Amino acid sequence: MSKVRIGIVGSRFQADCIAASVKAMPEEMEVVAVASPSKGNAEAFARRHGIPGFYSDYRELLRDPTVEMVSITAPNRLHARITIDAAAAGKHVVCEKPLCVTREEADAMIDACDRAGVLLLYAEELFFAPKYVKAKQMADEGAFGRVHLVKQGEKHSGPHSDWFWDVEQSGGGALMDLGCHGIAFCWWFLGKPKIKSVYAQLSTQVHGHRTQADDEAVTIIEFENGALGMVENSWNRPGGMDDTIEVFGAKGQTYADMLMGNALPTYSDIGFGYAVEKASSTKGWTYPVFEEHWNYGFPQEMRHFARCVRGRETPISDGETGRVVLEAVYAAYASAGLGRKITLPFRPPGIVKPIDLWKKPELAERAV
Ligand SMILES: NC(=O)c1ccc[n+]([C@@H]2O[C@H](COP(=O)([O-])OP(=O)(O)OC[C@H]3O[C@@H](n4cnc5c(N)ncnc54)[C@H](O)[C@@H]3O)[C@@H](O)[C@H]2O)c1
Repeated sequence: MSKVRIGIVGSRFQADCIAASVKAMPEEMEVVAVASPSKGNAEAFARRHGIPGFYSDYRELLRDPTVEMVSITAPNRLHARITIDAAAAGKHVVCEKPLCVTREEADAMIDACDRAGVLLLYAEELFFAPKYVKAKQMADEGAFGRVHLVKQGEKHSGPHSDWFWDVEQSGGGALMDLGCHGIAFCWWFLGKPKIKSVYAQLSTQVHGHRTQADDEAVTIIEFENGALGMVENSWNRPGGMDDTIEVFGAKGQTYADMLMGNALPTYSDIGFGYAVEKASSTKGWTYPVFEEHWNYGFPQEMRHFARCVRGRETPISDGETGRVVLEAVYAAYASAGLGRKITLPFRPPGIVKPIDLWKKPELAERAV
């Protein structure tokens, strides 16, 4: 089977992760090009990762005949435009989370890829994180009896790039940025049941001086089968990334701490190079994680997507996954705006960004 040839759009945080993850599976795929608008960034990225092609405009990358699949690691606001252009160019698309900012964009992305006959793959790596996959395997074997509660939390000290804090570009805060993982996770873990209702409590606790966005979020999801999902997110947790799950059934439970649970409890007076994503220090007690990308499931995710392109596997995370998550995100913001749970379907048209449903509750009131 020939290698799937990937073009990456973006050249910073997630682009590095994707390039490293592709390199970890060299028999399945390779990165052949990168595009990024800031002068010199694409070239520097290409040099660093040994990539032959680099462009300052992603549309040039889309014209590159060597590229079969595009991995979009640009800010949220650009996901829809780049996906639609990539589909028109006949390229398969891997889109980072969240799928996009609005429901209308999600519809347009899915339609564009369907019409062009290309795959739209939604990059939710938690579906591939080895610890979480093991928990799901045990649950599916019946280890816990009927699972009635799944919890997922993702917390860190706040995003690394300015655009995340600007709700015009991001669409929302910790809920939009991190909650999209937890919503997808609970839904996937329970076998993708319909979502019946969503309740959320949001606040801006620490970062009000720099953002309109929520930096604390608790979301409760009620599924059609009666099970609950509970998602906790924060941009106010110093000490490095925290990603955990808890699963409860009548016959048992399991707990998984993806990063600290796979780290070396370490003490150093002097410090060292790197401990874990978003840890600000390596002095004193720290939890340096090994095989960080592997623990998240990024290489396994990209391998799955490459195999989907070759028709060897069927996507377990696609545009529809991203659309389901976005509808729940809309409902969560509306719930926080109105102070009550929102039943689905919840598809208010014309919303410019999900966070508006929290900040302007009249928009949510009109839609329920
Ligand atoms: N799956 C995950 O766990 C995960 C982790 C981090 C980020 N992400 C997602 O990946 C996306 C990128 O996040 P990031 O952390 O890499 O952000 P970043 O700010 O580190 O990088 C964004 C990149 O997009 C590029 N860019 C901006 N405008 C562009 C344009 N018009 N054309 C092409 N490139 C453009 C920037 O130059 C930069 O290289 C976001 O949607 C984010 O939510 C996912």
